[in-house]
Amino acid sequence: MLHRPRRLRQSAALREMVAETRLHPSDFIAPLFLIEGKNKKEEIASMPGYFRYSLDLLEAEVNELWNMGCRSALLFVKVEDDLKDNEGEEALNPDGLMQQGIRMIKEVVPEICLMTDVALDPYSEFGHDGIVEDGEIINDESVGFLCEMAISHAQAGADFVAPSDMMDGRIEAMRIALDVAGFTHTGIMAYSAKYASCFYGPFRDALDSAPVDMADIPKDKKTYQMDPANAVEGVKEAQMDIDQGADMVMIKPALSYLDVIRRIKDISPVPVTAYHVSGEYAMIKAAAEKGWLNEEEAIVEVLTSIKRAGADLIATYFVKDIIKLINSKS
Ligand code: PBG
Repeated sequence: MLHRPRRLRQSAALREMVAETRLHPSDFIAPLFLIEGKNKKEEIASMPGYFRYSLDLLEAEVNELWNMGCRSALLFVKVEDDLKDNEGEEALNPDGLMQQGIRMIKEVVPEICLMTDVALDPYSEFGHDGIVEDGEIINDESVGFLCEMAISHAQAGADFVAPSDMMDGRIEAMRIALDVAGFTHTGIMAYSAKYASCFYGPFRDALDSAPVDMADIPKDKKTYQMDPANAVEGVKEAQMDIDQGADMVMIKPALSYLDVIRRIKDISPVPVTAYHVSGEYAMIKAAAEKGWLNEEEAIVEVLTSIKRAGADLIATYFVKDIIKLINSKS
């Protein structure tokens, strides 16, 4: 036999030397959930080990993440019911929870790359990412509003805005709006290939942001988020966002869409992010709780696979676990 591939696998040292994919703490983006109130740290029922924090307690969490080597966070807020409406007016409140969170984080850890979710759903009484009219999510009016939301986040100090709404044409509109408002340095991470996925379930529990079950209101997000059957369309979405000025593109979820990550990576001149979403976190947690999987091995294997598929950056709820695992090895 001229070729014996097992020769390169015979020791841990060799395996480490020839590994094609390596994880580093700066590969990861930490999603953060901010809630109203003081001294609150609430575990999310469908995401064991993951928490929503009030502003005061989030401070310690952000410090800890930064000190471990995490370089980026993606901020989400849970909005009180009485502040929700169809147009998401509260999203523009300069003293809203999101804006307060941005200011606090940039004050505590000025160097962190802070990204913010831009979509209407946490603010929408209907749980949709855009404005609802006559049973439809209206595109262009929603885009106009999302641009104002992005400016509001930039004013508070966000480094990147991350539009997750999947309206058409929002990246170009947002780039122009940010520039005109003087925020030429604020980046855009576009959720480009965002699929209509069941794996967002635990996240919607965390933020109480699921579409409502009401007559004349769409019960799902399938008219704007993508059909899981389509990969070529995902490439088109990413290409459009790149052409419209996105600084980074994202694929979401991650594990069921590794082929889409690879296809987009192959054409993308900008960094590619994958979002390992709430349901993907919950699956590993549930199986590990039952003793059916080794949690640490599952975390390393899954995140390595996502990076191998082509992700330059990965947003994941396992951020602290994986950084601890990386740091304990080196
Ligand atoms: C909001 C948004 C969602 C997620 C990120 N931003 C939910 C949705 O589109 O319904 C999901 C993240 C996760 O499941 O971890 N537009």
